[in-house]
Amino acid sequence: MANKSHYNNGHISLNKQKREGKNHSSSINNKKIAKSIHGLYIEDAIKFLKKIPDSSIQLILVDPPYNLDLDYWDTYDNYLEWAKEWLDEIYRVLKDSGNCVIFGGFQYQDLKKGDLLEILHYTRHHTNLRFTNLIIWYYKNGMSAHRFFANRHEEAVWLTKTNKYYFNLDPVRVQYDEESKKLALKDKRLIPENIEKGKNPTNVWEIGRLNGNSSERVGHPTQKPLEIIRRFVKSLSYEGSIVLDFFAGSGTTGIVCMEENRHSIMVDSDSKIKEYLDLHIEKNHTNLKDKKFEIIENININDLLVKMKKEKA
Ligand SMILES: C[S@@+](CC[C@H](N)C(=O)[O-])C[C@H]1O[C@@H](n2cnc3c(N)ncnc32)[C@H](O)[C@@H]1O
Repeated sequence: MANKSHYNNGHISLNKQKREGKNHSSSINNKKIAKSIHGLYIEDAIKFLKKIPDSSIQLILVDPPYNLDLDYWDTYDNYLEWAKEWLDEIYRVLKDSGNCVIFGGFQYQDLKKGDLLEILHYTRHHTNLRFTNLIIWYYKNGMSAHRFFANRHEEAVWLTKTNKYYFNLDPVRVQYDEESKKLALKDKRLIPENIEKGKNPTNVWEIGRLNGNSSERVGHPTQKPLEIIRRFVKSLSYEGSIVLDFFAGSGTTGIVCMEENRHSIMVDSDSKIKEYLDLHIEKNHTNLKDKKFEIIENININDLLVKMKKEKA
């Protein structure tokens, strides 16, 4: 029986397109923009999602509540019933080239409470979204444990709307060190041009969690490192495209979009996002120094999309 341990829809469709001499959607030309536009909304995610027109978003990047009782917004009697309401909107609002990344964990709660495993199961069986990758976010810093192995990873599920999803590996390749580069160049199975560009970062990403005293911290209890968000933004969206984060927290996704010339839509039910975002901008002034961006609050979503579309270099 064939070994299907590496069966991957992405590989299969890429190979088919190559054989047929067709371009993959990752060859979409970046739209150079003079400035990026960022919509900021203090609103419930589900209510907001219903207002977004069909097929308008390139990347949905969300870090939802994990149901861990970490804050007032992090406790659900029936997590999956709630999650279904936003999961059901994702396919509709994504463009055909669109991607969706959902952060979460597998090992925190008993299954009755719900977690990323339940989310993945639901998307597979009850939506048309396609499962493309599970990314393991591995970190060395974390809590100790005595009755089980101390946890050192979280996960992110990458889903796509169609097999024409946008994916650009080049901006997120990891450079070889000199020694391994020499060895790789001797390996006939590898393409020298790709070795020069760097290697695939794989689906296990070692990125430190933010310590309490990290200079990136703006005070949000579950703030994600810019680096992990940046890897997704650079590979799954392109310049001038629209990235949506409807559990925006401190606005980490929006900040990365400002730095990387993507438009963004940030939604959070907690108005503290404004303070956090200001602090992020203050702290990241070096990266943002030469960037032109505009933040617009609570504008009608259709007007925002028109403004974004008009933006050209
Ligand atoms: C895990 S945090 C996101 C942190 C973010 N990734 C960051 O780096 O700052 C989840 C966020 O979802 C927000 N939230 C919870 N329920 C919501 C809802 N129904 N609608 C919109 N936002 C919600 C919370 O206020 C919280 O800021």
